[in-house]
Amino acid sequence: MLIEISNLVHQYASGQRALNGVSFSIEATNPVAIIGQNGAGKTTLVKHLNGLLKPTSGKIYIDGKEISTQETSAWSKTVGYVFQNPDNQLFLDSVKKEFEFGPKQIGMEKEEIATRLEMVSQLVGLSKKLDVHPFDLSAAEKKFCTIGSVLMMNPKIIILDEPTCGQDLLGAQRLNQIVKQLAELNILCITISHDMRFVAENFERILVMRKGEVVLDGDRQTIFKEREQLASSFVTPPPIAQLGLKLGLTQLAFNAVDFINKLEEETQNV
Ligand SMILES: Nc1ncnc2c1ncn2[C@@H]1O[C@H](COP(=O)(O)OP(=O)(O)OP(=O)(O)O)[C@@H](O)[C@H]1O
Ligand SMILES: [Mg+2]
Repeated sequence: MLIEISNLVHQYASGQRALNGVSFSIEATNPVAIIGQNGAGKTTLVKHLNGLLKPTSGKIYIDGKEISTQETSAWSKTVGYVFQNPDNQLFLDSVKKEFEFGPKQIGMEKEEIATRLEMVSQLVGLSKKLDVHPFDLSAAEKKFCTIGSVLMMNPKIIILDEPTCGQDLLGAQRLNQIVKQLAELNILCITISHDMRFVAENFERILVMRKGEVVLDGDRQTIFKEREQLASSFVTPPPIAQLGLKLGLTQLAFNAVDFINKLEEETQNV
């Protein structure tokens, strides 16, 4: 998997310049997080990856193919985008119908649809809710329904736009599992999130956006030490990383077990 974005500019019809020359590439399928203040251009950026938005200028290649050379419908098989707001995506009267709609549209074999339905509904925790109307699901379940319907298409890349919105603890744990499972299935997961705890726990690589630009791009150890740059992007490191910074740990930890181990390692020689 190789995504190459060079000098991407997007200006909306209103005149608003939402992307101001964004360049980066993603190789392989390790999950990547995109963070940054409201209005930084995160959603605008990812909507270019499946052709939902067209660049004003600049180029995007996926595995060497320029995006503009194929129809948006062709890209939707490769790149699945889960909308920030589930209500923009759900329109059928049962979870099962939502899950089967996309695969039927692209002519997926019946048996494959059935196999995927079982696997995906289990992964997103909706196996027992297949006959429920999506509007009768909780906010968290709606989000999982949209993730499931995109996963049903068997994409190579899945983009999650604010998946933690409206999630309780169980939902958050399920999301952690989904991100891990996608990595195991070699599906590239690109996630936009304001939830730094979720980002720090699950994503090695983080891009920070500010005012239409990518201002930081690196691994979480480096990114969460960039306190000034983060502050000017209105990003606060997760509490566990802040504690590590205060204690002067050279290696930050992003979960409790790791924190205790790192603390023991670094204080052993004091
Ligand atoms: N359809 C649109 N027409 C005009 N301007 C838009 C449109 N969509 C977004 N914008 C503007 O483009 C800029 C970037 O918006 P975008 O939604 O990409 O930001 P974001 O980083 O996803 O923000 P958030 O964290 O709030 O979701 C903002 O100034 C926004 O107001
Ligand atoms: Mg957004």
